[in-house]
Amino acid sequence: MYYVSDWIKNTERIFPNQGRAEFLRLDMNENPEGLPQDVVDTIKEAVTPEFLATYPEPDRLRDKYASFIGVHPDQITLTNGSDNALRYILQTFAQPGHDVLTVTPTFEMYMVNCWLLGLNHKTVPYGVDHKVDINAVIEAMTDDTDIVALVNPNNPMGDCYSETDARKLIKAAASHNAIVLVDEAYHYFTKNTLLGLVNEYDNVILTRTFSKCFSLAGVRLGVVISNPTLIHYIDNLRVTFEVNTFALMCGEIVLDTPGLVEQLAQIQIEGRDFIVRQLEQHGYEVYPSETNFISFKPKTQSSTLAKKFEEHRILVKSFSSGPLEGWIRINTGSVKVMRQFFDCLCEIDVPES
Ligand SMILES: Cc1ncc(COP(=O)(O)O)c(C=O)c1O
Repeated sequence: MYYVSDWIKNTERIFPNQGRAEFLRLDMNENPEGLPQDVVDTIKEAVTPEFLATYPEPDRLRDKYASFIGVHPDQITLTNGSDNALRYILQTFAQPGHDVLTVTPTFEMYMVNCWLLGLNHKTVPYGVDHKVDINAVIEAMTDDTDIVALVNPNNPMGDCYSETDARKLIKAAASHNAIVLVDEAYHYFTKNTLLGLVNEYDNVILTRTFSKCFSLAGVRLGVVISNPTLIHYIDNLRVTFEVNTFALMCGEIVLDTPGLVEQLAQIQIEGRDFIVRQLEQHGYEVYPSETNFISFKPKTQSSTLAKKFEEHRILVKSFSSGPLEGWIRINTGSVKVMRQFFDCLCEIDVPES
């Protein structure tokens, strides 16, 4: 009988639904409208037969991104989405049987990667006040903790860690020889960032993505930022041509377009403010967020409502467990998109009398 890793064999994956392009996509925190058409036209014009025939060369985008965020290029490696970055980081810095500590709820790929790699996923739940007790996270660390992962802002809760709490946690992690992974997939929708701590402590790794604010989820482009030693280890693990040529080119064009990132963030923030206002004015309880998604408690059952939305060609995420059980999460879009969503909500979220 051939060998299969027990961890891989026993993991049950649920992959995203197919055919989503025909729907208004508010379920996976993408930008539902994407980049401005003129930026897409610039991308199209850059594609030539020679361009497609040449192996990828990531250094130019790496250098550009380094200067974009103000770090040295040796502190960066690019990955096939930040999803792959998380896998590499867990694989490099956690030993099978040891602990990866996160809060719960958080991005589900931490749990999945722990299953796949034989790691113990240890979690600290949010309190009844929907807040993380940073001391509880620190107390949960032991000498078996190899990685503490903070999603900042967290998905799906939408809240951020203060620099003071993060420093406390990083120092405690260092005393257990643990790495702190800060996942900033939702940066650019908030001013909060823990990026500066990468240069202050030698056990911090930060990830970002081009999938959210930069609106390039389809091309798969993630970024790891740390000190050159930790980046070197991750680079050793990555496949030779980790990020494809097309993704690299799209990333460069986004960074090279003056004001684009600010414009993309602004559109989403305006949409977010609009939908929060509408929901609150209509009596909904809304979960505040510093991201491109918000959660609210519908007037009818959330899973049934999500199905009704689907019938109206709109995809939303409904929660069946955890602190947001019975709630709906939607990612934001422009005010126009949020209005379309809200009009549909008013039509279908009507309790039976
Ligand atoms: C917190 C968080 N981190 C990482 C990712 C992965 O993003 P990507 O692989 O598209 O870079 C996501 C995707 O939704 C996320 O929510």
